[in-house]
Amino acid sequence: MRVLTGIQASGKLHIGNYFGAMKPMVELQEEHELFTFIANYHSLTTSKDAETLKQYTIDAAVDYLSVGIDPQKTTFWVQSDVPEVLELYWILSKFTPMGLLERAHSYKDKVAKGIAANHALFSYPVLMAADILLYDTQKVPVGKDQIQHVEMTRDIATKFNNEYGELFILPEHMVQEEVATIPGIDGQKMSKSYGNAIDLFMESEKALQKRCNKIISSSTPLGEPLEWEGCHIYNLAALFLDEEGKKELQARYKSGKEGYGHFKKYLKELIWEELEEAREKRAYYLNHMDEVHDILAHGAAKARGIAQKKMEQVREAIGL
Ligand code: ADP
Ligand code: TRP
Repeated sequence: MRVLTGIQASGKLHIGNYFGAMKPMVELQEEHELFTFIANYHSLTTSKDAETLKQYTIDAAVDYLSVGIDPQKTTFWVQSDVPEVLELYWILSKFTPMGLLERAHSYKDKVAKGIAANHALFSYPVLMAADILLYDTQKVPVGKDQIQHVEMTRDIATKFNNEYGELFILPEHMVQEEVATIPGIDGQKMSKSYGNAIDLFMESEKALQKRCNKIISSSTPLGEPLEWEGCHIYNLAALFLDEEGKKELQARYKSGKEGYGHFKKYLKELIWEELEEAREKRAYYLNHMDEVHDILAHGAAKARGIAQKKMEQVREAIGL
């Protein structure tokens, strides 16, 4: 089964990306044919300058490889190295009713947060549909916020198929329910655009602790039992724990012997430990950047071969 996903190169990766997209993907590559790319065309919608976009793109590649993307198993490339996706994006635009885009939650949320609306931001889901349909994708692992985009992809593909023949596979989204939306330090969805993220790779354990200390908690005084339900620290820690671990942590909250400071320290330890191997790999790749560039070039060549074949069929079908 072919599984595809993209990650935006618009900032440092965070714990939300890790649990919502990266970790499930690393697990999937054992059983499925995985395609993944750094979505730098998408990042252009929020990018400010060339240097930053370039840096974010390569940083994301290094981070993905570090958490376990295996280039022997997974086709891994940078979106703009396969420009065919833009041709498909234009063609798919013809099969995208305005009303469909106007209903996109992600677009409406971004505008509500003060991000200036432009056409790229508005038509973002069409490019995402092109990403997915170009490679005959069957499954798309995404966070909850992106489900609607996968549904829009199905709508667009269906319209195309009805008018010009069954060229596109209708993809399905994949969401791991228990990690659906990871909260940030303020309890809202963790996002690099909201300034509430815990970065995946902090420069030191001390810096990570400082960030964890910023998590908003209630002001119950030390010595009183604490509510774990609805506590952002607990919700983040739970991501790292099995059922038994969660029960133990709940008991610690209820005991009244520990305060939020203790749980913030515990959360820091959980995060730091989880990423130990990834930190080592990352140090390796940062010292061997030629290897990273080779991996991406190899991935792009493979993806492009598939994309070109698909575009031949599409052009033929629509009369270009
Ligand atoms: P951001 O919101 O920080 O800009 P992206 O939009 O780049 O993050 O998301 C990249 C991937 O990580 C997507 O699959 C997205 O659904 C997932 N993701 C991002 N934030 C979260 C979160 N808080 N919880 C779960 N998944 C998330
Ligand atoms: N829009 C996705 C996000 O913000 C990134 C993305 C771009 C993507 N193209 C994709 C995800 C195709 C899955 C499939 O996270």
